Amino acid sequence: MRILHLPTTASTNADAKVAAESGEPEGLVVHALRQTAGRGRQGRGWESPEGNLYMSLLLRPHCPPQEAGRYSFAAALAIYDAVQGGLPDAPVQLKWPNDVLVGGKKISGLLLEAGAAEGGVIPWLVIGIGINVRHHPEQALYPTTSLAAEGAAADVEDVLQALLAWLDHWLKVLRAEGFSPLRQAWLARARTGVITARLPNAIFEGTFAGLDDQGRLCLQLSDGSLRHIAAGDVFFGA
Ligand code: BTN
Repeated sequence: MRILHLPTTASTNADAKVAAESGEPEGLVVHALRQTAGRGRQGRGWESPEGNLYMSLLLRPHCPPQEAGRYSFAAALAIYDAVQGGLPDAPVQLKWPNDVLVGGKKISGLLLEAGAAEGGVIPWLVIGIGINVRHHPEQALYPTTSLAAEGAAADVEDVLQALLAWLDHWLKVLRAEGFSPLRQAWLARARTGVITARLPNAIFEGTFAGLDDQGRLCLQLSDGSLRHIAAGDVFFGA
């Protein structure tokens, strides 16, 4: 991986996307100390003060668009391992689709952006990762925390190095062995139980019933039926 360190930028995802469109080969990492227009999921923003980690990795997986989501599970596992490394005794969990929780509070964010498919495969994929190292937003959709608030002494550079090593590991596993070992590892670290899934046009309540082979959330509804959810916001508790 080749790391481009920037003091400040609008969004590392936007930078990686521009590089992708200009023909940059796979493996570029854009890292910034702060962002002025950080992007979150579902068109939301991402508060990006100095002290937290902001990075984007450019990949060229040559896979069909429906398989790109697998990469977010590799990234979520890498974030999990980097966070657990900084907080060895803390209760770290994964929450669908790709949040990492410490004590039930969100400590990171992951945003995948892909180029429009050409000949059935995507030309590039950008994996954008934010980890709350020193700060966490007070006003957010979910309860949030940071490594510092949980008692870790790690700084951004330590977390970046750990994250890149774990990304390399989980991407190798995905490429060598496919999605199955990632799905298994993800499920072993996942928060389960009663879930409310908020979709753009509907809300479903049910019990977490696993992940399908495309990484969609399986939700068992009260009538016993199983619903596969591809995108949405998930909340725990009845
Ligand atoms: C979420 O809403 O949970 C996803 C947030 C993703 C934020 C990261 S920070 C680095 C990269 N650059 C961006 O503009 N967004 C992602």
